[in-house]
Formats: sequence, structure tokens, C-alpha cells
Amino acid sequence: MDAKKVINIYNEYVMPNYTRKGLVIKKAKGSWVYSADGKKYLDFFPGWAVSGLGHCHKRVVKAVQKQAAKVMHVSNNYYNEVQGELAQKLSLNSFGGKVFFCNSGAEANEAAFKLARAFGNPQRNEVITAHSSFHGRTLACTAATGQDKCKLGFEPLPAGFKSVPFNDKEALKVAVSDKTAAIMIELIQGEGGIKVAEGSYVRFIRDLCDKNNMLFIVDEVQTGMGRTGKMFAYQHYGLEPDIITLAKSLGGGMPIGATIVQKRIAGTLRPGMHASTFGGNPVACSGALGVFEAIEKEQLLKNTVQMGTILRNELIKLKGKYPLIRQIRGMGLMLGVELIVNGPKAYEYCFAKGLLINCTQDNTLRIMPSMAVTKKEIMFAMKTLEKAISRC
Ligand SMILES: Cc1ncc(COP(=O)(O)O)c(C=O)c1O
Repeated sequence: MDAKKVINIYNEYVMPNYTRKGLVIKKAKGSWVYSADGKKYLDFFPGWAVSGLGHCHKRVVKAVQKQAAKVMHVSNNYYNEVQGELAQKLSLNSFGGKVFFCNSGAEANEAAFKLARAFGNPQRNEVITAHSSFHGRTLACTAATGQDKCKLGFEPLPAGFKSVPFNDKEALKVAVSDKTAAIMIELIQGEGGIKVAEGSYVRFIRDLCDKNNMLFIVDEVQTGMGRTGKMFAYQHYGLEPDIITLAKSLGGGMPIGATIVQKRIAGTLRPGMHASTFGGNPVACSGALGVFEAIEKEQLLKNTVQMGTILRNELIKLKGKYPLIRQIRGMGLMLGVELIVNGPKAYEYCFAKGLLINCTQDNTLRIMPSMAVTKKEIMFAMKTLEKAISRC
């Protein structure tokens, strides 16, 4: 089917709740995607960080194909080895907790909220989040998200959420009350413009939660699975949260979410209190095991650190040349270029020249290439990015 026909079908039959570029992707491999009209794009924002290993990684494809031929779905009334194996991998690679499986980041966060309420109720049922955070699109996640633009038109939102300025200890201290059950943050705010949580702030949250018997939840939906150079971003901070939530690159392209909970509180959600029909689906879990295999066998954490350093240094050089770059932020291969002007012009130029990136908070270019990206691909992208910025 040609590109025009595909777009026409979407226009007729698919809900118009997304802004889409006129790119019909026919196939994708590694850092590259290929359009229906024969163009090739270097993808430095693969699937909003879903394709963290690049597109169609061979180990993920193999794991998915193998599992699909064995058993595609097992209800959660029964057992299946791959769900158990993946839970073990997640637990051993994080803080030794237990895992709830679902299908998306929002669902992983919903599970965390329900657990926090079940933990704190009847007195404590409030969750404090940060301004400019993003936690998903369900009603509770919308209420938790610290951005008014996401809430507009959906009132009344569920009660029990409030947000305070990010990286502000005093504001957090003031906001905590005898109703607070949990504090939840992203360690790098992705949608919020690649803003990194300060070490002392994260330590402060841990201590505050310990003192007041509150849960510390870290939303690792975007930062998880190696993106920052460690398997999970909290591992840069020398402490453990009580809960982390994952999705996006966990499945290497398969839809899967997970909520990892410290063992001491994992029994808070008893049988019948929470569920997800597709949660822990064997094909999705198998894909995620393929992701772990690739990260381990291909040393992708090391590559993320090395390539992240190269990319950051190139961006810093660019900042030295172009005063319209205000700041370079981020960790590993999750980097943001804040401009003093609006970003869409640069983004549009990159798109026209075959480089896919993202622009968030109007003025921050978000660059999150595959963890398997090469230096050659980075240098190729930098040429286009420089031309884009020089034209702003
Ligand atoms: C930090 C964070 N949390 C939660 C979500 C929601 O994930 P999903 O779209 O899979 O529900 C996102 C999505 O962008 C995210 O970046």
C-alpha cells in the first residue's frame, strides 16, 4: 500500500488524538527506519524510547518468534516459566523485589498508586509528585502528572495527588502531611525537558520517606533498562527506592510494563486487589528476556556510557559554537539540548533531512538514540543537527 493510501485510511478510521508527521514506516532495523516512499531515516528517538536497543534487535525478534510458536497467552490463574524468569531478572538486576506485570507505563504507575494507597489507608492516601513530571494518560496518572496542559478538559480528576516544584527540598517538606502515603518522581524528567534530579534532593526524599513511613516511588518508564548507562537510573544515586515502574524499552518493542516493589511491601496487594489480563504475557516477557540478553551479551551498558560521552561532548562543542543553545542536560543516551528559541524549526529541519529526534517543552530537543548506536551514526546525526541549529 502506498504512503498516501495509508494516511487516507488513518484519516478515515483512526481517532485523531495524535499529531503525526507524514512518515509511513514500512520497516526498521537498528538505528534506521525506512519509509513507504523509499526514504531512509536515522532514528535518534526510536519509538519514544521503546526501541531502546534499536529497531527489531535480532535477539528480541528471535525470542518473540520462539515464544509465539509455543504459547502466546497464559492467564494469570496459571504459571508460565518466562514470566517467572523475567521477574527474577528484574529483581536480581534491581533491589531484589517482587514484580507486577502489565502492558504500559501508565498501568505500571497505576499499580504503584494502588499499592501506595493500600499501604497507607485509611489515614494516608495522597501521592506527591513534581512539577513538569509526566506519568501517563490514565485519569490517575493524569492527576499525578505535574503539567496543567495534560489535565485540561478532563476534570474532575481523581483526588489524592499534588505536585510541588522539582528539585526543591523545602517545597516537598512543606507538602508532606499526615495524609501522604508516597512521593513519586522521575530521576530524569523526560517529557518535562530532560531535567535531572539532584543527588541531594533524591537523598532528601529517601530520608523523608524513611522518617514518615512513606513509599518512595521512582518512575523509570523512560530512564529504565540501561538508557542512562546503568540498568536503572536510581543506581546512579547510591540508594534504593521502594518501588520502580518500567515500560517502554523493557520489551524491546513489545508492549509490557512492570512495577518492581521491595519484598517487605510486596504482599500489600493481595489476591483480588489488582490485576491485568494481559500482564506478564509470555510473548512480551520473552521479548524482554531478549532485551536483557542483548544488554548483557553485547555490553550495551558500556556502549551507552561510551556513546553517551561522545554524543554529549559533540553537543557541548556545538553549544560553544552556537549561543542559541542554552544548556545540554541528561545522562547516558538520554540527552536534551535546550535552546533559547523554540525547537520545532530545528526539529522540522532534521526531519526533512532524515534525522528523527523529538522536541519537548517547546524549546528542548530530546535525543535518545539506540543503546547500540555507533560513533559513525552519532557523527552523521551531529552534521544534520548542526545545520538545523545554524538555521534557527
Ligand atoms: C516517565 C513516564 N512515565 C509514564 C509514561 C506513560 O507510559 P505509557 O505511555 O506506556 O503509558 C511515560 C510515557 O511517555 C513516561 O515518559
